[in-house]
Amino acid sequence: MDNMAKKEGILLIGADGMLGSQVAEQLKQKNQTFYQSVLKPEHEQHLALDITNKQQVLDLIDQIKPECIINCSAYTDVDGAEKNEELATLINGTGAENLSLACNMSDSHLIHISTDYVFDGQATIAYQPEDPVAPQSAYGRSKLIGEEKIQDIAKSWTIIRTAWLYGPDGNHFIKTILNLARKNDQLKIVNDQKGCPTYTVELAKCIIDFSANKTKGMFHFCNSPECSWYDFALEAINMSNIKCEVNPCTTEEFPRPAPRPSFSVLNCDKTDKHLSWARSSWQDTLKHYLNNYEYEIAK
Ligand SMILES: NC(=O)c1ccc[n+]([C@@H]2O[C@H](COP(=O)([O-])OP(=O)(O)OC[C@H]3O[C@@H](n4cnc5c(N)ncnc54)[C@H](OP(=O)(O)O)[C@@H]3O)[C@@H](O)[C@H]2O)c1
Repeated sequence: MDNMAKKEGILLIGADGMLGSQVAEQLKQKNQTFYQSVLKPEHEQHLALDITNKQQVLDLIDQIKPECIINCSAYTDVDGAEKNEELATLINGTGAENLSLACNMSDSHLIHISTDYVFDGQATIAYQPEDPVAPQSAYGRSKLIGEEKIQDIAKSWTIIRTAWLYGPDGNHFIKTILNLARKNDQLKIVNDQKGCPTYTVELAKCIIDFSANKTKGMFHFCNSPECSWYDFALEAINMSNIKCEVNPCTTEEFPRPAPRPSFSVLNCDKTDKHLSWARSSWQDTLKHYLNNYEYEIAK
């Protein structure tokens, strides 16, 4: 925090989340100058920042004056948001507004992460970044407000919508499913929701590339091709050589507080035009995850 006079580097917000941890890891590997903030710091490398606290946001960003702010923080409890929409909107909407105002003040570029939940989930072909939005859940509405605040206020911004995140850090679907598969002989997994799993390792790489190039606008990033949760779980269990029978079931059999989109496939063609590397299939990234972070893959 000593050299905060001149504008340089990156401020990574939400550096201890599932995605933020991976962005931090890759920035470190690249020896890139960056500051990192979290809501409740436990390590000395972390600055404290609550994005809902406007004055705190303005003060910190004015002090650092980063080239670029990468916002990986969010209210991400999809079911919890149904009962706590005000809090979700405060963090995902007002938080994004505060960051936009601060970015303008310090002439910083803002990279923000959003979600497939801004769409209605009724499409039959992959959603393009410019397609009409119509969120069906409180979480989706709160994330859409954040997108709108950034587009209205920030002078220089990138929004990357993503879906079905998993990776080395945090809790996610694959960790849960593999734990359940080891403890049960049979599992039922929803087969009537289609989407695209996204490996945080690849998404973080895209975010860092976009921050270097200041690629501006609305983008989608996920791995391909589309699949159901059942397909994703079955592949992970088979690759991990776990003996567990996996059976498909419907969304109706597993009612949840927040409605889930039946189709949330994101078209990433626009993103691909800006990347110097090819996004991997979800099967390849799943193999990488299992090999490097989870279990021995069946030979
Ligand atoms: N996970 C998915 O499948 C998924 C899918 C589509 C899009 N996304 C989007 O991708 C981004 C990253 O998601 P993720 O799964 O990595 O999220 P995550 O693991 O839940 O991390 C979010 C981080 O934000 C922090 N945070 C919450 N309120 C805050 C506040 N007021 N000020 C500052 N930080 C705050 C959280 O801190 P605490 O833990 O201390 O509360 C947490 O560290 C989010 O924008 C999310 O909406 C995620």
